[in-house]
Amino acid sequence: MTYADVYDDWKSDPEAFWMKAAKNISWVKPPSKALFDEGAPIYEWFSDAMVNTCYNAIDRHVEAGNGKRTAIIYDSPVTDTKHKISYAELQTRVASLAGALRAKGVEKGDRVLIYMPMVPEAIEAMLACGRLGAVHSVVFGGFAANELAVRIDDATPKAIIAASCGIEPNHVIHYKPLLDGAIDLANHKPDFCVIFQREQEVAHLEEGRDFDWHGFQYGVTPAECVPVEGNHPSYILYTSGTTGQPKGVIRHTAGHLVALDWTMGSLYNINAGDVFWAASDVGWVVGHSYIAYAQLVHGATTLVFEGKPVGTPDAGTFWRIISEYNVKALFTAPTAFRAIKREDPDGKLLEKYDLSNFETLFLAGERADPDTITWAQDKLGVPVIDHWWQTETGWAICANPMGIEPLPVKLGSPSVPMPGYDVQVLDEGGHEVADGEMGAIAIKLPLPPGTLPNLWNAEARFKSAYLEHFPGYYETGDAGFKDEDGYLYIMARTDDVINVAGHRLSTGGMEEVLASHPDVAECAVIGVADTLKGQLPLGFLCLNAGCTRDHADIIKDVVAMVRGKIGPVAAFKLCLIVDRLPKTRSGKILRATMVKIADAEDYKMPATIDDPAILDEIKTALQTLGYAQD
Ligand code: COA
Ligand code: AMP
Repeated sequence: MTYADVYDDWKSDPEAFWMKAAKNISWVKPPSKALFDEGAPIYEWFSDAMVNTCYNAIDRHVEAGNGKRTAIIYDSPVTDTKHKISYAELQTRVASLAGALRAKGVEKGDRVLIYMPMVPEAIEAMLACGRLGAVHSVVFGGFAANELAVRIDDATPKAIIAASCGIEPNHVIHYKPLLDGAIDLANHKPDFCVIFQREQEVAHLEEGRDFDWHGFQYGVTPAECVPVEGNHPSYILYTSGTTGQPKGVIRHTAGHLVALDWTMGSLYNINAGDVFWAASDVGWVVGHSYIAYAQLVHGATTLVFEGKPVGTPDAGTFWRIISEYNVKALFTAPTAFRAIKREDPDGKLLEKYDLSNFETLFLAGERADPDTITWAQDKLGVPVIDHWWQTETGWAICANPMGIEPLPVKLGSPSVPMPGYDVQVLDEGGHEVADGEMGAIAIKLPLPPGTLPNLWNAEARFKSAYLEHFPGYYETGDAGFKDEDGYLYIMARTDDVINVAGHRLSTGGMEEVLASHPDVAECAVIGVADTLKGQLPLGFLCLNAGCTRDHADIIKDVVAMVRGKIGPVAAFKLCLIVDRLPKTRSGKILRATMVKIADAEDYKMPATIDDPAILDEIKTALQTLGYAQD
């Protein structure tokens, strides 16, 4: 079948398409139908089924006689550790952890927050939640205590599972003090915490609240898989929106299983037993879908990599891992390849490794620039597939379906819509624009299985953020165009979200931090182009009248504040003090124009600008940092 056949199949009968895909899942009670549209515009999939995520990810493979197959490969150059966990071992470990959580009162529907680095125990914690029907919420290790506290208050977890520390190439990240700080800051307090003590740093445990990962499993009865409804949330994953308050994306259990399993074969061309490596982090959506879940549901092997593309120890680490474990396909962010290319432009380190089993490189998380794609194609000699998705969708909206029919690659495009997604480019009035014309990218409702049905405890925000601007559609927040062959090009965000090294961040959230500095009267944060990380945040501060403090000190303060409140991952280091910010007559800061000036792109003078002279002041200020060069 061709891609066009499959896409038409879905379009002509979505119900039959998804019911067929659902056959690959082991149900406790199969769904009577796929789509539940009674609550439109809130849609659900397979709601009346009963199912368990962990059973599908582990137990069914063991029962089918595949217990010896490797489920997880752990490779950690930062700790010099490597090991493999079979499906049978994983079953024992997860059932025991789930049993211990249950013994302490965690039940179906309870939330469990997970704050862990890239160790297999992070995946085990997620699966143990799935075994019990508990709802996990994983928080990325690069976030600071305050961000963790915001998530604790929103998800109100009964338990928190954390590691004692994370290991970055040049320093240890002290997770436990961050966690203690977050619990102090939060209004909600968990009943208990489970701490995975790492050799590199053993953390202090609070008597009565904190339990040791191994110790608390002693003597417990392993837990069996608890069946849950198809529309039971399997997790909440927070992502950046326009403000500092993150959005809690929910994933329903059944749709998640069906969609991820479908993508393994059809999109990534992965079969049971193959090794598929997503070099991301469990704290991001890519890590949820393609480190923790999809491979296991499909009976394949996943890889937990605790390291960086460069510096651990060198730019050949990715090639070492691909050859050592027979990786069939790698999925990472373009920024990782830019980092490798910068260190080893001629790809010399590749010569040391045998990559003959490597078939495809998938890129996502940010725009894949054509230079990076062509470099990777030349050096690796395999198809390099850009695909576009979001935390909200959980799997690719547009891609080149390698398991159906590899389509011609067009540089700069993540290719074509996947079945389930009717992607349209709209003008402000909600009408489709002509091919080649830019517009807001929207997806006709309903979204397919595996995508977000709602936000955690925030239905009104879900509707206003995604559904109200274009009635009948989901608004992606991305802008771009379609070409005459139906290939999509993602060009920009329509909101204040930026993308730094494949990490999605809110400039609004950073502005909230800057504005809280006592000397700051007004501020703006924009994303400027960066050759390594894609974008970097850059702040502008206007100081209170009469402020006499040294500007360098104030900048030092705000850089430390963003690092302390949001986290090192924000990579906020660039900041300028200016007299005024450019605004419209109604007082809206012209951030998009500032971005164009910084990136030395052409721009139209906004018709509503209050005082055009301010743009020259901004340009002069940006030039002191090396931006806005003509
Ligand atoms: N826990 C704690 N801190 C973390 C962290 C984690 N899991 N991940 C990153 N950080 C810290 C880093 O140590 C760094 O801190 P520093 O300011 O003290 O140096 C800061 O956050 C910024 O990190 P990062 O943006 O990753 O920059 P980097 O210079 O360390 O590495 C790359 C640059 C390109 C090598 C790296 O960003 C990378 O591998 N990116 C791939 C992105 C990716 O996987 N995205 C997921 C979507 S697919
Ligand atoms: P996240 O929710 O962190 O996965 O970030 C999603 C956002 O990253 C999207 O809305 C896009 O702005 C951007 N993005 C992800 N993948 C791509 C891609 N392949 N091309 C361009 N932008 C992308």
